[in-house]
Amino acid sequence: MKLSKTSTASSAPGKLLLFGEHAVVYGHPCIVTAVDQRLTARVTQTESGKLLLKTPDIEFETSLTTISTIKKHPKEVQFVLAAVVEFRNTYPEIEGLEIETKSAFSSKFGFGSSSAVTVAVLHALHVLYKKRVSKQMLFDMAYRCVLDVQGVGSGFDVASAIWGGTILYVMGGKKIEPIKTDVLPITVAYTGVKVETAPLINQVSELKKQYPTLIEHLFNEVERVVELAKKAIEKQDWQMLGVLMNLNQGILESLGVSSKVIHQTSDLLKENGVLGAKLSGAGGGDCVVAVYDPSKQSIQTSKTISVALQAPGVRTEVI
Ligand code: MEV
Repeated sequence: MKLSKTSTASSAPGKLLLFGEHAVVYGHPCIVTAVDQRLTARVTQTESGKLLLKTPDIEFETSLTTISTIKKHPKEVQFVLAAVVEFRNTYPEIEGLEIETKSAFSSKFGFGSSSAVTVAVLHALHVLYKKRVSKQMLFDMAYRCVLDVQGVGSGFDVASAIWGGTILYVMGGKKIEPIKTDVLPITVAYTGVKVETAPLINQVSELKKQYPTLIEHLFNEVERVVELAKKAIEKQDWQMLGVLMNLNQGILESLGVSSKVIHQTSDLLKENGVLGAKLSGAGGGDCVVAVYDPSKQSIQTSKTISVALQAPGVRTEVI
């Protein structure tokens, strides 16, 4: 196969869940925004019959014929391997590849490096091999990869990496609606504790098995909060958005996924004048998000992380 270009790079943003975590796993909507800290994948065509992968943490080589058994390879490389396998299932002509990834963000913040790397690699492969792909097709491919490796997850992080901006999302990509606003006065603080998502999803699932009606009722309330939050963002009603964040946090508390470090971080933000705060993501730790009044000074605390929100989705980078 003759190619005019042998190397290309794509980057995808990290994400922050603003509303609707956990309920989204059961088919309710959530709101997610993309953060302007990007993961870049540079993909080079070779004829070696091998896949050579260089990441900031690991250098790894395997034969292209044996990569389909993804789980036997180190955890750090599984998402990239899954992306290559997914692409090869449709386009088997790949002879050899070198993939180099670089991340502008630390995976500890829970910004979604797995989804960003999967999306960036799949996008770069389509560009390299000159294959057209719609956002929806890219989503379906990347979401399959994430489910193969992780087993669980709503795919909101995959959608955010592809569409960017701020979106309302329903599991499996059933709904992906951009939410339009030129400002989004939300500050982000890191609790200092990194968490694993799957155990918290399982914890909520156990609770739901024990109290199905009660928990479904709470998820319906989350859905109402998400719908109102979408309206509040569109109307730029930050007071209302703050109240809705506190309400969503209250429901997450009752699901048992909040924690002491989350409370401490929220309290710190509230002492500094935010209008409302909540955990972001699975819970236990990771980040807290808070709405502030944009007519006043932005919030700076010892735990605040400087990130721009509403970042663009996956794109080709000049190399
Ligand atoms: C984790 O960041 C958010 C959850 O809703 C899981 C998911 O949607 O995949 C808990």
